[in-house]
Amino acid sequence: MEASEGFMRALGYRMFYRSFGTASRGTVLCLHGGPGASHEYLLPIADLAPFGYRVVLFDQLGCGHSERTRGTSLYTVEHNIEEVEGVRRALGRVHLFGSSYGGALLLAVALKYQRNLRSLVVASGLASTPLTVREMWRLIDRLPPSVRRTIRESNEKGDFQSPRYLKAVDVFYRTHLCRLPVWPHEVVQSLENTGTVYRVMNGPNEFTITGRIRDWDVTDQLPRIRRPTLVTVGRHGEVTPRVAREIHRGIRGSRLVQFRESSPMAFWEERPRYIEVLRDFLDHVR
Ligand code: ALA
Repeated sequence: MEASEGFMRALGYRMFYRSFGTASRGTVLCLHGGPGASHEYLLPIADLAPFGYRVVLFDQLGCGHSERTRGTSLYTVEHNIEEVEGVRRALGRVHLFGSSYGGALLLAVALKYQRNLRSLVVASGLASTPLTVREMWRLIDRLPPSVRRTIRESNEKGDFQSPRYLKAVDVFYRTHLCRLPVWPHEVVQSLENTGTVYRVMNGPNEFTITGRIRDWDVTDQLPRIRRPTLVTVGRHGEVTPRVAREIHRGIRGSRLVQFRESSPMAFWEERPRYIEVLRDFLDHVR
């Protein structure tokens, strides 16, 4: 299989990318989450390559191997939209895949540039940060009493570093972020890569979103999206089925598929079925 990696320029910045396969049936451009993680955890999507898709992953500005900027003023959704369009321009019309925040970014890109997109795959993506955070706290309230008490008390105090708190956060992550008993090293790597961008755009952790995306909400604009759309969600995910249903409801003709054993990492947790669902969708896009 053809594979390559390197840097491409978008908006004058060096962006790291990896590409797998040849585009006999089309190109799938993948957007990672965080905001501020990196591409590695999306590598299972390259399983599409033997079926005639070129799969392209890249690190967003300030993330992974891509260039850091001086200061943090460009770490915004608005700038991310133009980065994606910059990378997309080098590839022609693409199928756009976005996971978690990458799914939010995908919706934002589609609202501005949908003419350049063949189809959309929103993988545990969000249209509304406030709704997503409300849902995360609903899940926290279902954790064992001592865990949820620790999380609530520490969040009220703004203590995001104590070992007890971090242990409680880990319980949430292992239940609602990745349910595999041993996390794939690509997942660990992407999470370890979260740094400045994550702090500025997201916040101290997954359910404490105090950064720039805090009030982000495009739910009302979703009916403007007119592209074939697949919405996937893990039944146990921190981005919950309720969040996915809102997106499905907003985008006319979209297809919603739920993965019963999964969190947002369904492409790891139920990998063969995930790829099958994705392939079935993409193969039928006209
Ligand atoms: N923090 C969530 C993500 O992983 C939204 O993208």
